[in-house]
Amino acid sequence: MASTRAVPEVPLRSGNARPMPAIGMGTAKFPLVPRTTVKAVLEAVEVGYRHFDTATVYATERPLGEALAEAVRRRLVACWEEVFVTSKLWCTQCHPHLVLPSLRESLHGPVRLYLIHWPISLKPGPAVFPVRRDDAVPLDLDGVWRAMEECHRLGLAKAIGVSNFTTRHLDKLMAAATVPPAVNQVEMNPAWQQRKLREYCAEKGIHVAAYSPLGGQNWLGAGNAVLDSEVLAEIAMARGKTIAQVALRWIYEQGVTPIVKSFSKQRLKENLEVFDWGLTDDDLRKIGRIPQKKIVKAAGVVFTTEGEFMSADLADMEIVEE
Ligand SMILES: NC(=O)c1ccc[n+]([C@@H]2O[C@H](COP(=O)([O-])OP(=O)(O)OC[C@H]3O[C@@H](n4cnc5c(N)ncnc54)[C@H](OP(=O)(O)O)[C@@H]3O)[C@@H](O)[C@H]2O)c1
Repeated sequence: MASTRAVPEVPLRSGNARPMPAIGMGTAKFPLVPRTTVKAVLEAVEVGYRHFDTATVYATERPLGEALAEAVRRRLVACWEEVFVTSKLWCTQCHPHLVLPSLRESLHGPVRLYLIHWPISLKPGPAVFPVRRDDAVPLDLDGVWRAMEECHRLGLAKAIGVSNFTTRHLDKLMAAATVPPAVNQVEMNPAWQQRKLREYCAEKGIHVAAYSPLGGQNWLGAGNAVLDSEVLAEIAMARGKTIAQVALRWIYEQGVTPIVKSFSKQRLKENLEVFDWGLTDDDLRKIGRIPQKKIVKAAGVVFTTEGEFMSADLADMEIVEE
């Protein structure tokens, strides 16, 4: 069996959820090549990953399921339950009556954590990009969360949570929730530090997971604020680490779980080697001064800017919550 001893775990507060391994492998890659995903996930299991992030909209639930089934067959893991899988409800499924059937469709093995992908509801149907304004409908957040709670009660998702929620969205959700969200998965890295949101989540007992921890996949070709950072390069040089390792270590030291995507076995390994060393106070001060830049823009990148969105104020999602 591959060793996972080097990866610490963090407790989640929702119900009887198993602790979450402190780093997860992201699987979002467009265009999707299922065979490549299966291979990368198997390699990740081999080098020690036990935490995987997928979503209906990435279309990687099935290849991830295939890879994990193969990992069990090859005895890389004893059983599926050893692995922590997060999946997400897409906006077209963000309707009370669609939550449970959507999770059942996602189940190519046990889902540990099920998240609302965005606080946005679109007309039911296949995911279309760019998302059309006419497809936006009012979000019944209370109703959707009650359905998420039902998934949890039935044991189909051991923990439930959200993604891309600001403090305002969380305030609204917390007021209605019986089972509070265990996790909020948001963009976070040294160039987008999310201080206010993290403070809020710490106070409410919501664990934060960081997507695009290395600055993302440069979808817009605009460079990478993390991997191109001179501040991080200088720290990496002084510590004998890579820039990616410094970024991931910084996230871990903030009490946040990075969800990092690499389909290269060598970089998968490199990204795991962040748990047995530390940053200095001086490093932390320097990282604290890195100019802030949000990469994943709701308006214009994920969702259209054309006209008004009926279900959500997209500007609300771009708030710089410093
Ligand atoms: N909830 C949401 O709305 C949301 C949004 C975005 C992403 N996510 C999740 O978060 C995951 C990660 O986010 P992301 O893919 O946007 O960004 P990321 O993990 O910050 O960046 C991935 C990019 O960095 C490269 N990379 C990985 N390790 C490296 C290393 N050690 N050195 C240099 N380059 C390295 C990867 O290339 P190689 O593969 O070639 O190594 C890839 O191009 C996604 O896969 C997805 O699961 C969630």
